[in-house]
Amino acid sequence: MKPFVVVTGAGGFIGNHLVTLLKEKGYQVRGVDIKFPEYSDSKADEFLILDLRIWENCLKATDGVDQVYALAADMGGMGYITTHHAEILYNNALINFHTLEAARINGVKRYLYTSSACIYPEYLQTDANVTPLKEEDAYPAAPQDAYGWEKLISERLCEHYREDYGIETRIARFHNIFGPLGTWDEGREKAPAAICRKISLAKLNQESSIPVWGDGEQTRSFCYVDDCVTAIYELMQSDYPHPLNIGQDRLISINQLVNMVSEIANYEVITHHIEGPQGVRGRNSDNTRLYEILKWQPQISLEEGLRRTYFWIEQEVRKKYAGVLS
Ligand code: NAD
Ligand code: GDD
Repeated sequence: MKPFVVVTGAGGFIGNHLVTLLKEKGYQVRGVDIKFPEYSDSKADEFLILDLRIWENCLKATDGVDQVYALAADMGGMGYITTHHAEILYNNALINFHTLEAARINGVKRYLYTSSACIYPEYLQTDANVTPLKEEDAYPAAPQDAYGWEKLISERLCEHYREDYGIETRIARFHNIFGPLGTWDEGREKAPAAICRKISLAKLNQESSIPVWGDGEQTRSFCYVDDCVTAIYELMQSDYPHPLNIGQDRLISINQLVNMVSEIANYEVITHHIEGPQGVRGRNSDNTRLYEILKWQPQISLEEGLRRTYFWIEQEVRKKYAGVLS
């Protein structure tokens, strides 16, 4: 029989997609979050609404399960994580410390923690033409923002729980994951969703320009959500206990991202560069170890992932604004 698993953060973007994948694979799945998914139903067998900052709730969430996929977090793109440092550090430290300790007490066998590329030192990411980040580049530590510091400490917590208590921990470091059913407005959205929203709104309103934060020459790599959940699943099955990058290794600038989305939308826009939180100047994933460990690499091209995402967001934008604009 397949293990009984819990996905925390199952009401969120990646957690919701992960529940779907685990159900397709025949697992019995408990979803936990402080909210239900916003844009679809959950496929989980049971869904518990719990605030995982609270110790007793973490005991309930992990009761009776064999494995934990820990995705719950107070998170967002640059607009959010650069303006909520105290809240993010407080909330995420409580969620992660309590969930892992409750899992240990409840005898959980395997625990996968979702960390971030934000744990990498800012001093390695000052150039748009950045050298891709390898897992060992994390030290000497200088993570980005309170969000990155908390992720790094929770990575350490996982490693120590494995060494001291024998719980099998796995650590995924995500590099900007995007796709349908992800946050696309109201402040937590990341660049791919924000650019899709801005272009679809411009198209709807017949406007010729969109605002972009900074000069647009800052660079990132973007990974489609289906590849992300496949990698999470494979990492959980593997015997690799150290942090592993999960991302794409194709570096593009935000201006190039705008051009790609504009082509997909079949709508030309001029970019209007404004002040905004920019984060690091450049970031890319070195996928050497990902390939070594999982014998796998991301399969969905950026163009295909953006196409799927753009048309989903265009539909959401029309639903939300059509009445207002007509
Ligand atoms: P998301 O915001 O869509 O999902 C996170 C979920 O956690 C949300 O549904 C939220 O309600 C839930 N949550 C927040 N506080 C909670 C609490 N107190 N109790 C219970 N649930 C709570 O984000 P996502 O993109 O799906 O990210 C999933 C995980 O991956 C997070 O740990 C995030 O930090 C990490 N991550 C994501 C990315 C990315 O690009 N999406 C990059 C790096 C790391
Ligand atoms: N969000 C957003 N919205 N970003 C924009 C916009 C916009 O309208 N316009 C330009 N950008 C630029 C930002 O200034 C930044 O330089 C770049 O696009 C990427 O921004 P985000 O996608 O918001 O975040 P990130 O890539 O810096 O970090 C994200 O990924 C990390 C993992 O790689 C965040 O989600 C982090 O929380 C996450 O850990």
